[in-house]
Amino acid sequence: MTEIVSGADIISDVISAVHGSAMVITDSNVARLYPQLTENAFVIPAGERSKNKDVLFDILSEMSHRNVRRGDAVTAVGGGVVGDITGLAAALYMRGIDFINVPTTLLSMVDSGIGGKTAVNHCGIKNLIGAFKPPLRTVISYAFLETLDDREWLCGTGELIKTCLLTENAFERLNLKLDGLIKHDRNDVYDLIETCIDIKSRVVRADPTELRLRKILNVGHTVAHALESINGDKFTHGEYVLKGMLTECAMFKDMIDPEYYARMIGIFKMFTDPPRTSSKFVCDVAAHDKKNVDNDIRLMIPTNKGEVSEISVTNDAFISRYESALKELKRV
Ligand SMILES: NC(=O)c1ccc[n+]([C@@H]2O[C@H](COP(=O)([O-])OP(=O)(O)OC[C@H]3O[C@@H](n4cnc5c(N)ncnc54)[C@H](O)[C@@H]3O)[C@@H](O)[C@H]2O)c1
Repeated sequence: MTEIVSGADIISDVISAVHGSAMVITDSNVARLYPQLTENAFVIPAGERSKNKDVLFDILSEMSHRNVRRGDAVTAVGGGVVGDITGLAAALYMRGIDFINVPTTLLSMVDSGIGGKTAVNHCGIKNLIGAFKPPLRTVISYAFLETLDDREWLCGTGELIKTCLLTENAFERLNLKLDGLIKHDRNDVYDLIETCIDIKSRVVRADPTELRLRKILNVGHTVAHALESINGDKFTHGEYVLKGMLTECAMFKDMIDPEYYARMIGIFKMFTDPPRTSSKFVCDVAAHDKKNVDNDIRLMIPTNKGEVSEISVTNDAFISRYESALKELKRV
């Protein structure tokens, strides 16, 4: 099980995560912003485009050149991209070595830094090649948030809101702290991050390999992953998640408690607009989603506070609901 350390003032934990590992992997932006922490790191180009097999094999080759051994640990210092690819490299190298995750974006603090899903994209499909590889330790220092730009805040906000849909308490907490989240008020944001860490850790502990409960973390993600596969880096992952949640909720409005629906849509619309990608394209990609088990498309829909239902639809039903949702969202 992953040990998670989090706080605003835990720089010594970050330093020991870095110094205690055989190799640090980071990206070009983080290396520029935090040169002392990443002095001897292996630096990959920043951004989603690095999440591919070539960069993965560059990391593995570098591990070999640096003589990383079986008993060693490697440390990811960066956002979800660095964490996902480093975790996968750690899972593969010598059939598995330890890895430590130091998330530096809001998204990676509330989501990807916890839970051990690792992956690279392949054949135009998000996270096609991956493994479950929980970090030995995740060190979440809020100090990294100080250098995030507005876009990356928005990106993290997507996964943060998603996680707050998973329990009734978290949803109420989100509503209470929403203004602070918009203004990046540190206390409110720290409080919401802790809420997300707690929820995600509990879900992952109960179902580490996504056989049952963990599927609830995929709220919004069927449409989000399809939009991301089609539109690439036009938006960030978290922005796609916001669009995904907005669209999927509108697609299944008839299955959601009306008051809860109105509150959720109100929140999503503060941060995003409906997608403009055509139903056919989205359906084609969604039909290949990893979550599908038969010919139908599976989605996780928050139907009431703290309740998420798995819903399965045919491609035709998906297209018709998606088109109706876009019309509905133009109205509200
Ligand atoms: N493993 C999981 O469970 C899981 C969950 C959600 C998302 N993800 C994955 O995470 C990725 C998205 O993560 P992300 O949003 O962190 O992306 P990212 O890693 O690309 O980081 C976003 C940008 O922020 C920069 N950055 C990182 N830390 C910074 C800091 N402290 N200050 C300023 N800039 C900083 C990066 O260089 C990059 O340009 C996607 O690939 C997504 O699929 C994985």
